[in-house]
Amino acid sequence: MIRSKNIDDLENHCKEAYKDAESIIHGWGHAYRVAEGAKWLVKMKNKSKENQDLAYVAGLLHDIVRPIDEERCHAEASAEKARDILTYFNLQENHISKICKAVKDHRYPKED
Ligand SMILES: [Fe+2]
Ligand SMILES: [Fe+2]
Repeated sequence: MIRSKNIDDLENHCKEAYKDAESIIHGWGHAYRVAEGAKWLVKMKNKSKENQDLAYVAGLLHDIVRPIDEERCHAEASAEKARDILTYFNLQENHISKICKAVKDHRYPKED
């Protein structure tokens, strides 16, 4: 389970971080809507509260690095940045791995 304090801290961190988003349509509002949508989708699949939280956090972080030029895949860059952020907020490694995989694969989803 991800502690609600961690989720609150991550939301606050992301709200600030997305203020610097290069792409104005990929700011906090977009990240929050994706997070809520991802959580809802996981809930509709009858997955656990833990998996709903993981989906929510992945949604928050999925575009945390989103340069306009896309010279580097923003999904890969966001996954790397997400790892730094989640490590800073002391999430469990198994949670960090799952969230970062979802962030990394969000452009070209893979089954597994
Ligand atoms: Fe996005
Ligand atoms: Fe994206």
